[in-house]
Amino acid sequence: MPFLYFMDNREREKILFQFVCEELSADNSGHDHLHAMRVVTNARLLLEKEGGDESIIIAACYLHDCIDKKLFENLPLQKEKIIRLLQSLDYTKEQQDTILYIMENISFSSGKSKDLTNINARIVCDADRLDAIGAIGIIRTIEFGASRGRKFYNQEEVNKSDVSSYSKETTLAHFYDKLLLLKDLMFTDTAKRIAEKRSAFMVSFLDEFYEEVKE
Ligand code: ADP
Ligand code: NI
Repeated sequence: MPFLYFMDNREREKILFQFVCEELSADNSGHDHLHAMRVVTNARLLLEKEGGDESIIIAACYLHDCIDKKLFENLPLQKEKIIRLLQSLDYTKEQQDTILYIMENISFSSGKSKDLTNINARIVCDADRLDAIGAIGIIRTIEFGASRGRKFYNQEEVNKSDVSSYSKETTLAHFYDKLLLLKDLMFTDTAKRIAEKRSAFMVSFLDEFYEEVKE
């Protein structure tokens, strides 16, 4: 019988990390390899408490932003590179499909994520969202806005205090369009608990911000 060798998750992880560094370390919009690493760390914590398939979850976490249309122009090419990578890591066709399905369905902005039922997909989604809130969420959002040349706020809008009228061209609007909503969209109880704390920190940040800048 031929000797069969399959990669373990530690070996896979080294190569996944290397791949995401090549693809995203130059990003300056809050989606770099450090984001991917934090999502993996969050997912590990959730996995420990909630259960799930580690081999699927780590791959989907590392790779999730490598097919984002905001970050890459040639999406078919990105998908092809990812499939080749997963094949080289001994993922079966079924596992490759699951990983790609997760990557393509966790986005908040696309609105697809609300229907996720699979625990692995839910964990990756929660892990990504935890990195969108709290102190790190504030930093990433400011980085994203700056990368698009946007101002953080508009003085007249802030003075009026009507958050629903904030221009989408300011970064501050993103707190109300997305960040403050995320705590109620977490799937797992563990993520919900962490999200409550991180969200409360963002509310304090905004209170302090208004106190400092309102005229
Ligand atoms: P999703 O696909 O789940 O909506 P994104 O990649 O769009 O995730 O967003 C990830 C993070 O990038 C956000 O949480 C935020 O920090 C930043 N970001 C994305 N869009 C904006 C925006 N319009 N203004 C400010 N930050 C943004
Ligand atoms: Ni992400």
